[in-house]
Amino acid sequence: MPLETEARAELRALVADFAPNDGQLMAALHRVQHRYGYISREALEVVAEQLEMFPAHVYGAASFYDEFRLEPPASTTIRWCSGPACRLENGNGIRDAMLAVLGFDDLGERTDDGRIEMVNGQCNGTCEQAPLVWVERPFEHERRVVGKLTAAEAIRITREIRDGESIDGGHETVF
Ligand code: FES
Repeated sequence: MPLETEARAELRALVADFAPNDGQLMAALHRVQHRYGYISREALEVVAEQLEMFPAHVYGAASFYDEFRLEPPASTTIRWCSGPACRLENGNGIRDAMLAVLGFDDLGERTDDGRIEMVNGQCNGTCEQAPLVWVERPFEHERRVVGKLTAAEAIRITREIRDGESIDGGHETVF
């Protein structure tokens, strides 16, 4: 039995109401990720214990779905929409301008200090805002849609994020 650390006790309390083997694995993983922004190795173990499943099975589910993170997120994630409507509105140009400001070669990279990452995103139906990015601050449970971007605006916003300023514009949502 692993040592009962404070973190482990907190995890245990977080998933305590899930009954063993009741098919709520996805719900349990979502709850952990929502709370911590990712699913740690320890969290995988605790979920497995709570649901009375093999840890390898829980790990397999968590690693299969893109929506789950197994590493801590950056404090700011720029999620670029790769959907067709955004691409038609110069989405690729927006992406390249933002990558250049951050000094990245491609999506999926993170700044050396770990503060900012830029990742690929999927259309979620808000195409009237194309081309857009989502600026996410997972530790604050904040997600901002920044749409109808021009290349110049994309550069300005990325500089503000890089320089630690709050960004101007967009609509804030809580997740
Ligand atoms: S294509 Fe980007 S939001 Fe739909």
